[in-house]
Amino acid sequence: MCIMDAREKYIEEYIVSHSDPEPLLLKKLQRDAHLHLLRPRMIAGHLQGRLLKMFVHMICPKHVLEIGTYTGYSAICLAEGLPEGGHLYTIEINDEMEDFIRKYLDQSEQKEKISLLIGDALDIIPTFKDNFFDLVFIDADKRKYWEYFEAVLPKVSTGGFIFVDNTLWNGKVLNETHIRDPQTKGILDFNDKLAIDDRVEKVILPIRDGLTLIRKK
Ligand SMILES: C[S@@+](CC[C@H](N)C(=O)[O-])C[C@H]1O[C@@H](n2cnc3c(N)ncnc32)[C@H](O)[C@@H]1O
Repeated sequence: MCIMDAREKYIEEYIVSHSDPEPLLLKKLQRDAHLHLLRPRMIAGHLQGRLLKMFVHMICPKHVLEIGTYTGYSAICLAEGLPEGGHLYTIEINDEMEDFIRKYLDQSEQKEKISLLIGDALDIIPTFKDNFFDLVFIDADKRKYWEYFEAVLPKVSTGGFIFVDNTLWNGKVLNETHIRDPQTKGILDFNDKLAIDDRVEKVILPIRDGLTLIRKK
């Protein structure tokens, strides 16, 4: 391990040991996912999960939308921060995940605050009223990031937020050799279009795999 890697590792350990612990149910979910699912690394994880909860507390949204549920980990974290009467809608295209997701949503204290919708987000988003959401978390197919953004923008209230995950894509946004990979292309296209989009304010946080915070003007 080089000095830089070691320092980053210790900093991460320090951050984890000085932040809120991961709730027991989410620890259990992660273990289950690592044992039984493909690609468990897609899960937001401990620190990003605590951050999502904190952001939701700060924004105090009535309606939240998540695009890309996977196991339900980040859905539970988002719902943890909701105020009384707040509700989260989370969309997952892969119906094979439904049993796993429901197993954990049903055990969660947040269960009543979460509606799981199985289907393609691009079909489901148009069924919501305009200006309905105060916060949207985009974390699905990287090739469709711009499509999700355009579909969801009219559904977000003025002053509302959109968070977009993985916008640094493991540093591949800087690496010319990955430009042909369609997922990297999707992220690059999204980041470039967003950077010059006057309808919104935006800032990329270099947290985990890059998290873009967007505010609708
Ligand atoms: C990165 S994972 C989500 C991780 C989850 N948000 C978390 O942090 O725990 C992406 C998920 O998006 C789903 N997905 C991909 N395309 C989608 C679409 N068009 N509509 C809804 N879900 C989609 C995938 O099946 C996958 O489960």
